[in-house]
Amino acid sequence: MSEELEKLEKQIEEKISNANNLEHLNSIKIEVFGKKGLITNHLKLLSGLSENERKIKGKVINDIKNKINQLLQEKNKTLNDNEISKKLEKEEIDITLSPRPFDEGKLNPITQTIAEVTTIFQKMGFETALGPDIEDDYHNFTALNIPPEHPARQLHDTFYLKNNSKLLRTHTSPVQIRTLEKIKPPLKIIAPGRTYRADSDMTHTPMFHQIEGLSLDININMSHLKGCIMDFCREFFEIDDLPVRFRPSFFPFTEPSAEIDIGCFKDKKEIKIGNGGSWLEIMGCGMVHSKVLKYCKVDSNKYQGFAFGVGVERLAMLKYGIPDLRSFFESDIKWLNNFGFSIFENIEKI
Ligand code: DAH
Repeated sequence: MSEELEKLEKQIEEKISNANNLEHLNSIKIEVFGKKGLITNHLKLLSGLSENERKIKGKVINDIKNKINQLLQEKNKTLNDNEISKKLEKEEIDITLSPRPFDEGKLNPITQTIAEVTTIFQKMGFETALGPDIEDDYHNFTALNIPPEHPARQLHDTFYLKNNSKLLRTHTSPVQIRTLEKIKPPLKIIAPGRTYRADSDMTHTPMFHQIEGLSLDININMSHLKGCIMDFCREFFEIDDLPVRFRPSFFPFTEPSAEIDIGCFKDKKEIKIGNGGSWLEIMGCGMVHSKVLKYCKVDSNKYQGFAFGVGVERLAMLKYGIPDLRSFFESDIKWLNNFGFSIFENIEKI
């Protein structure tokens, strides 16, 4: 090997071994193998040599080239590994540190209220059931004894999907039907969820939330309904002597039907819940209509029961003094900081 090439090899090896980052190594690679690189230049010179010389020198240069390439590869791996470990070190999470305070995110009062309501009913033995937001006419209306042409359909301001075969459920009552198609009585279910009506003003949003209840068993009567709802209202509003009254009403899926009012009074301009002489309507209820049971193939001579439905936003506004319905869905972080609930607060309550 010519002295010159030997020197060059040593020089390049030293450069590679001194490289301390990938960028540096890359520039060495170009310096050696680039268009006018140290080795490239030698390769170019081969063409001017005699065939014999070319063979001998060519082999020498090729050997050097292979050796340097290998060194470059090895160094590349070492530098790469180093950079990864450095990065990992920087990004390491100390899991022994105490958790960050949870003041950066809050639960919407809707989530909180649903958790509170379902928890109270769970303690009374109700199980949570869910149904789809996109319903069909049969489950949302017909099976609930609201046949086509029934005036109640007009009251519901239904959002229909493209070809009218599906709709956005206008209430959570279809979960009664869906559950009875799957489970036979006796049963007690509580069904929270989103509901939709084409209505939007100060006191209506096109999407809102309801919670449905259904209890079916042998020998269930109106007094069970009264006791259950009174216990719920008093526990939810945390007022032991809260007046609760049942006012006759009409719903196609219950007979008899009632609306439930709770006691309230005006304190300055605010409405407060409690014993004060005035009444506030909060939910609908009744004994499940025998036609509904028939649609669900439940023997109404054997099983009876009660159902109820309550609006979540209204409960939340009354309990937590939230003045404006629309604010629930504006995603205003300042509002959420004011009216929202910490996750830990929620866990403690439950
Ligand atoms: N589905 C009714 C509504 O949206 C609420 C309701 C009333 C549900 C009475 C019931 C009930 O289960 O028994 O207005």
